[in-house]
Amino acid sequence: VSMEWATLDGLPPIVIAHRGASGYRPEHTLASYALAIDQGADVIEPDLVMTKDGYLVARHDRYLSTTTDVADHPAFADRKRSNADPKGEARNDWWVEDFTLAEIKTLRARQPFPGRSTEDDGRNEIPTIDEILALIKDRAESRPIGVYPETKHPGYFTSIGLDFEKPLLEALEGFDEGPVFIQSFEPEILKRLKGKTDAFLVQLVYEAVPGSGPNIPLSEIATYADGVGPAKSLVLHEGPSLLGRGDFVADAHALGLFVHPWTFRKDQHAGPGIAEFTLPADSMAARVVKSDADVELYRYFSAGVDGVFTDFPDIAVDLRDAL
Ligand code: G3P
Ligand code: CA
Repeated sequence: VSMEWATLDGLPPIVIAHRGASGYRPEHTLASYALAIDQGADVIEPDLVMTKDGYLVARHDRYLSTTTDVADHPAFADRKRSNADPKGEARNDWWVEDFTLAEIKTLRARQPFPGRSTEDDGRNEIPTIDEILALIKDRAESRPIGVYPETKHPGYFTSIGLDFEKPLLEALEGFDEGPVFIQSFEPEILKRLKGKTDAFLVQLVYEAVPGSGPNIPLSEIATYADGVGPAKSLVLHEGPSLLGRGDFVADAHALGLFVHPWTFRKDQHAGPGIAEFTLPADSMAARVVKSDADVELYRYFSAGVDGVFTDFPDIAVDLRDAL
């Protein structure tokens, strides 16, 4: 007997390769995205920032020191400067908006997570959105593969005269290899994009508890977005939340919103593991759930999430397909 999926459309949840197969390759490189495709991911997630000359490139942060070898380039030694990071704190670093695409292309990607392999450091360029979409087109012959760009800090880029909207829509035009999702923490860009694209629009949220900070109620998100991307802790959070009544997935689904939580990892496991969690006896789950990472995914799959962002797409694909 296979699992009855409690997703919005009743289909199995999608596996979104978070920064590519970033558990295995330096994040946001063509190597990381290609491995995710080989591992069966349904959708590739690039975080996007903008260069000085207006190109969209894949990096999680505006600063470059943690995920590239920029510090090793004497030509850029005088480019380092103090600037406000996304939390408004001063940071002395190299900033993507100070570099042209040609300059960015001289850098090589590094793996930033402690404990993960650094074997591929120094081998990969920083890809543009066009290069990422071309890779997907190349690999999407036998099955659909989608893309899930995140607009990182669009308000900041607009404030310095760089706008995401036009280059993003131009890049995505004609992409029909699989579903397209556009995500952001900033609602303004999603509201601006509404009606201008066929892409699914996804509001990212990360605070659950009243008093923990500003957030956007699900009922408001439903007026401009198709889905919500919560920090995974919001999904299993018990008790009242700023976002809904308490059952996050049920609340979102009742409003027609799909739910794609982040981020599932095997090296930063959260919640009860295989030793503490009791699986339903005699079920398919009892036979196929084998690791702590599987237990965590299984709990979210059981809660009815419509997809998962994961650094380890192979684990989520294998479990989903076995259930
Ligand atoms: O986009 C979903 C998730 O990736 C948000 O967190 O910081 O990894 O981009 P972050
Ligand atoms: Ca992201």
